[in-house]
Amino acid sequence: MAVRVDAAGNLVGRLPGSDPDAGTLLLGSHLDTVRDAGAFDGPLGVIAAIECVARLRAQEVSLPFSVDVLGFSDEEGLRFGTAYLGSRAVAGTLDPATLALADADGVTVREALAAFGAGPEPAARRGEQLLGYVELHIEQGPVLEQRGTPVGVVTAIAGATRAEVTFIGRAGHAGTVPMELRRDAACALAELVLAVEQTGRAEPGLVATVGRLAVLPGAPNVIPGSATGSLDVRHADDAVRASAVARLREHAGTIAAARGLELAWEQRMATAAVATDPQLTALLAEAVAARRLPDIRLASGAGHDAVALSDLTGVTMLFVRCAGGVSHRPDEAVDPADVAVALDVLDGFLRRLAESRR
Ligand code: GLV
Ligand code: MN
Ligand code: MN
Repeated sequence: MAVRVDAAGNLVGRLPGSDPDAGTLLLGSHLDTVRDAGAFDGPLGVIAAIECVARLRAQEVSLPFSVDVLGFSDEEGLRFGTAYLGSRAVAGTLDPATLALADADGVTVREALAAFGAGPEPAARRGEQLLGYVELHIEQGPVLEQRGTPVGVVTAIAGATRAEVTFIGRAGHAGTVPMELRRDAACALAELVLAVEQTGRAEPGLVATVGRLAVLPGAPNVIPGSATGSLDVRHADDAVRASAVARLREHAGTIAAARGLELAWEQRMATAAVATDPQLTALLAEAVAARRLPDIRLASGAGHDAVALSDLTGVTMLFVRCAGGVSHRPDEAVDPADVAVALDVLDGFLRRLAESRR
């Protein structure tokens, strides 16, 4: 493949098709990880796409359309609090204001891209003739293991909202300021964290998480002057998610008012639930059936680059069984035999897509 790094830090490899007018199929996933992660969430989809291309080359199969393998730069959104940076750039939906977001050390997205050595080539693929985007990914849940089958076809991906919530109070001496005179920001955040849990529990299918807490100035003998929590809320129904986020925001305001604090609520991301493309998904399901495997369809609670790419082109996804449904942990694992099956399915999909376009 001809390989380049685009302006958003995505790694792109291109296998040209035999017909220059047949368009391009995008394959891939992300190269970044969460903190203390496993090895497969993201990279498996990139390696699998490269392996598919290698198989085509080894068998001297030439597809009419070009295949671009994409290794997306920042899907997880840990550093800047907003996910799908690389794939949104490719979709042409990255708000330029995002480039000014800063990480915990004050480094902006723009500065991080320059330091990384992102190329001059624009990431956006708008206006190109694209056949779709296909992502192979570990399931990150227990369904395929329970069903005793190596792969499943994704029908939809849940929507997600992320926000940074900061309570601002007044720092002070932990030994001298009486309790009734304090404006302790960490206590307000603690109340909100429990409200987030309750909100998630109260609604079937809703998940709500505060995964990161930061208390300043962060000393045992100083009353916290400010406290920030990350918020992540997801549901397959966008209205349910929006209403939960609105209730939490209102509740945070009530907590702040009762304690005499200021509240800063900064929404960092909101993505709607996404349905996979019916035609691409049917071809993928045919490739699964051709391998004599059960037709398992499942919705994804995790987010994927396919969410961002769905603004650009039709998307579909193949899930691979993972041990114990474990993900975002170092003990994430897949069986190589399952990966071999998934590669066969992806290969079958590519050949079917080529057939359908002849
Ligand atoms: C990505 O792993 C996400 O769902 O947050
Ligand atoms: Mn992940
Ligand atoms: Mn992932």
